[in-house]
Amino acid sequence: MTALLEVSDIRKSFFALEVLKGVSLTIEEGTITGIIGPNGAGKSTFFNTLAGELSSDSGSIRFAGEDITRRSSYEVARRGMVRSFQISRGFPNLTVMESLLVYGSNQPGEKFWPALLGTKAARQREDELVEKARGIAEKLRLSHVLNNLATQISGGQKKLLEIGRALMADPRLILLDEPMAGVNPSLGNEIGEQIRALNAEGYTFVIIEHDMSWVGKLCNPVIVLADGKVLTQGTFDEVISDPRVQDVYMGIDA
Ligand SMILES: Nc1ncnc2c1ncn2[C@@H]1O[C@H](COP(=O)(O)OP(=O)(O)OP(=O)(O)O)[C@@H](O)[C@H]1O
Ligand SMILES: [Mg+2]
Repeated sequence: MTALLEVSDIRKSFFALEVLKGVSLTIEEGTITGIIGPNGAGKSTFFNTLAGELSSDSGSIRFAGEDITRRSSYEVARRGMVRSFQISRGFPNLTVMESLLVYGSNQPGEKFWPALLGTKAARQREDELVEKARGIAEKLRLSHVLNNLATQISGGQKKLLEIGRALMADPRLILLDEPMAGVNPSLGNEIGEQIRALNAEGYTFVIIEHDMSWVGKLCNPVIVLADGKVLTQGTFDEVISDPRVQDVYMGIDA
């Protein structure tokens, strides 16, 4: 396997609070890597620095062989690393189809809405995006809700739509921050199966999740982030039987 993402000694402080204290890790292409760790460990902050939404104070990030440390989120997404966004964040009046299209247009030199009014080439590109969105919806079993408002689909379907929006950007690596949060546990298996199927097609995943049994079924390796640093990594069984990992969870959640 080859390293798709190489993170070296990333540090990030918010004023006096040092949240990332030197995170180093490697993500192999083709894996579904889990990131676990107690609340406040810095997991979401780490994703934000990877995706270019926050810039790190120091350290380096290489993706697909290129240094992307100082790249914007747009530039990072263009190179193939995308994070999912919660449906609740914005676009409340869009249908599922429209939600997919808005993200599909987020590509070099492209603006979807002006294209609606534009040239034959633009209309052709729009048709292609609609086809792509239909294909993704079908894959995620969302075809029957394409015309529903994104806010009115089920919690599990919202999570799938979040993944669908990431797929519109033709990613190689997808970052998911707590895909099981707010999801009925009975839908967990379905979301896990969808992720597994996409992984079999070649997409690499890095997933932050607190639901341990779900992580245990899906993710390998599992990386433990605690107090702004990587504590350990290994198979799920390896990391959860590590006394240091048990210590950081003591009295917190698991
Ligand atoms: N923009 C910010 N400004 C100031 N402090 C922040 C900011 N973002 C995060 N923090 C702080 O950084 C620490 C780590 O937060 P982060 O959200 O990365 O944790 P997490 O591991 O994702 O936790 P959880 O499992 O609860 O989601 C917390 O103490 C948080 O309050
Ligand atoms: Mg978080």
